[in-house]
Amino acid sequence: MAKGKNNDVIILGIESSCDDTAAAIICNNLIISNEVASQAVHMAYGGVVPELASRAHQQNIIPVVDLAIRNAGISIDQISAVAFTRGPGLLGSLLVGTSFAKGFALARNIPLIEVNHLQGHVLAHFIQERSVDSRKPGFPFLCLLVSGGNSQIIIVRDYLDMEVIGQTIDDAAGEAFDKCAKVMGLPYPGGPLIDKLAKEGNSRAFVFAKPRIPGLDYSFSGLKTSFLYFIRDRITENPDFINENKADICASLQETIIQVLMTKVIQAAKETGIRTIAVAGGVSANSGLREALLNAAVKYNWEMHIPPFKFTTDNAAMIAITGYYKFLKGEFSSHDAVPYSRVSLK
Ligand code: KG4
Repeated sequence: MAKGKNNDVIILGIESSCDDTAAAIICNNLIISNEVASQAVHMAYGGVVPELASRAHQQNIIPVVDLAIRNAGISIDQISAVAFTRGPGLLGSLLVGTSFAKGFALARNIPLIEVNHLQGHVLAHFIQERSVDSRKPGFPFLCLLVSGGNSQIIIVRDYLDMEVIGQTIDDAAGEAFDKCAKVMGLPYPGGPLIDKLAKEGNSRAFVFAKPRIPGLDYSFSGLKTSFLYFIRDRITENPDFINENKADICASLQETIIQVLMTKVIQAAKETGIRTIAVAGGVSANSGLREALLNAAVKYNWEMHIPPFKFTTDNAAMIAITGYYKFLKGEFSSHDAVPYSRVSLK
């Protein structure tokens, strides 16, 4: 079935910042296809291997885009513009999506739109799904963005007007989950596994030191180091310590990370007076964090926005929706745009 009337804006979104090759088609703000090829190759290495990631993107990009276009039921000439993740992320990975998007835009003679991956995570809240009547956050709102590479608190004043008011000074929350999981011998990515195991454990079994960072910034490197020493010392006493206490360790670690995240969100809401709160990024899939946010929403009278799981981890729908809002403002990129590995939101 062909979609797209004359006034419809149809955006092809491309995401390749880390280890997921993703493509999505959005018609105005309605998502009509959303495809992702994940890369299992990294599992054996306990983390993403950049060189392998770029090769896998190179393999996956054309089949994934082809699938996204076919599943959207549109023809290629209905696409109004192509939006791609310019950064932050792994440079070799970003180069694949960037080069593909440029080639596509050039071949189709359509605008090219660069997207900041972090902005994409935030705007995932505005993706409309067919037959899902979801509430969208009103402006201004606060967004807790927690992923494998970032932990930030952002004031979102409009679709393309965001200000970071707090961020990690070292590791991200997702990194803390993944690196501590690695210390426990769990496979990558450790976050979802810790979440699963924590459900069976006692979150008060062990106490880990929390950082004392002024303002709204975060820090997770101290927790990671103290966790490493804690495990090392306990294993010296009892070589089976991890196996015998796996669920309790995970529950206690997860609870500590959640408390660190929540303290600053509560502080940010108090300081700004903003009571519409949203969460975004891979770590927002964490069931404990979701519960803590919902409890805080009741306690502090917040309007809480938590996106569906599929829009929390890396996906191209969030790149397409950001591309849509940039398209409406005529914010197009030139063909000499190069990817950037590190960048914050302005
Ligand atoms: O947003 P994302 O897919 O990629 C980045 O842009 O970083 O986030 C990936 C991160 C990983 O660190 C992963 O362990 C974490 O999100 N994650 C979780 C859960 N699901 C994914 N962390 C804790 N609990 C989860 N359920």
